[in-house]
Amino acid sequence: MISRRKFIQFGAIAIAVPTKLLANITTKKFNFKSPVLNTGVRNGNKVVFDLTIKSGWKQFFNDIKTPTWGISQDFLGQTLQVNPDDEVHFAIKNTLKETTTIHWHGAKLPAKADGGPHQPIKPNTTWNTNFKIIQPPATLWYHAHQMHKTGEHVYKGLAGMMIIKDNHKDLPSDYGVDDLPIIIQDRDFDKRGFMRYISGMRDRMMGKTGSVILVNGVVKTKLKAKKSLLRLRLLNGSNAKIYNLSFKGGESFHIIGSDGGLLEKPILTNKLTLAPAERIEILVQVAGKNLQLIHTSSSGGTGMMGSMMSRSDNSNIMQIDGSKAKTSNKKIPKNLSIHTKFDKVDKTREFNLEMKMGPMAMLGNAFTINGKAMDINVLNEIVQAGSVEIWKIRNSSMMPHPFHIHNVQFKIIKRFGKIAGAELGFKDVVLIHPNEVVEVIMKFPDYSDKNSPYMYHCHILEHEDGGMMGQFVVI
Ligand code: C2O
Ligand code: CU
Ligand code: CU
Repeated sequence: MISRRKFIQFGAIAIAVPTKLLANITTKKFNFKSPVLNTGVRNGNKVVFDLTIKSGWKQFFNDIKTPTWGISQDFLGQTLQVNPDDEVHFAIKNTLKETTTIHWHGAKLPAKADGGPHQPIKPNTTWNTNFKIIQPPATLWYHAHQMHKTGEHVYKGLAGMMIIKDNHKDLPSDYGVDDLPIIIQDRDFDKRGFMRYISGMRDRMMGKTGSVILVNGVVKTKLKAKKSLLRLRLLNGSNAKIYNLSFKGGESFHIIGSDGGLLEKPILTNKLTLAPAERIEILVQVAGKNLQLIHTSSSGGTGMMGSMMSRSDNSNIMQIDGSKAKTSNKKIPKNLSIHTKFDKVDKTREFNLEMKMGPMAMLGNAFTINGKAMDINVLNEIVQAGSVEIWKIRNSSMMPHPFHIHNVQFKIIKRFGKIAGAELGFKDVVLIHPNEVVEVIMKFPDYSDKNSPYMYHCHILEHEDGGMMGQFVVI
């Protein structure tokens, strides 16, 4: 039986709002922090990373310690940096009391090294894996991918950035100085200051969102710019939230990179959308400016879903003070990279994303692809190594889904409306709106392994955990 005292505690936690905690934050100081840069132990092209998955304590709010998880640090992971053609080796020790995994999101790699649900790292064991970097420079990331637990594990902190470094002479490249990781996440806190994960049906259906914005694990982020031209590697590391980003006042900037790496040419714009797991790199001139990066909620649709989704959640992401920025010798390049074209199509597949609502969802299998919920014992697709495929992905549900495919970088070839901005580049996640059909084209790497599947899934982590995921092998 639940004691009265316990009950009261629970009730209080359930209705607590973090306003007090937030008021408690000092806003005067520059608190922006880049995660520690880890370049591994190098011997020629061979780079070795020793990482530890651990629990810890992190001070998000003054005088309050919050229990967290992290990778070789208390919350989130170090930034791992490698070069094209490197042979990267990992020894990842799990010191938690439960099984998890580490997946290399965006990497082209053998299925055994993928780090999805088929590569569990049990408590007190070490996962040794390795793969060669066979793709162009890009901002990738890594995160937990344990079956049915991805949402919870990432929320607690099992995520970090992985950079494949470029040597473009014009681009800012001094990590933490003018080349900055910006991991955007949202969290809910109870009044003790502990992170609060799913607290009801709405979180499970819409995905877990929170009212506190973190940038690299810091609340109310303020950055003191050291250089006049900054490269921001934006990563949406949130479980479910889609950000519509711009600078207050409409300051323009250049998009230079997408999930798969550099675009062909910089694109001048003043806003962008960043869905869960997407990365967009931008260049912004900050000298003498005081910039506020903001999220503006888009107007939701109509009906029940519309009202559930259109909760106004305009928020500040971070502030950039450019008043002391020194003149940079870097500039906005004319050309960034050359993209290889696809010269054939071997096969076309169709996928349909479905979601049951309300009482129907209670009957089970609320989230499916082509009518099936993810089953670790069922193989959904078989792909030929080296083949070029078009995947037509339809969203038959009433909310948008960021669809992700492991082991590839694709190009979007068809969607409702114009393909623009970062969507002109290589991608591994694409946001698919209700009733939309998006077509993507990709070439599967030459790795084959009939026994180890890769995943494709919605990157709203509660949808992934709920079954909106499938498996393919490459043979
Ligand atoms: Cu970022 Cu299958 O995940
Ligand atoms: Cu992935
Ligand atoms: Cu989804």
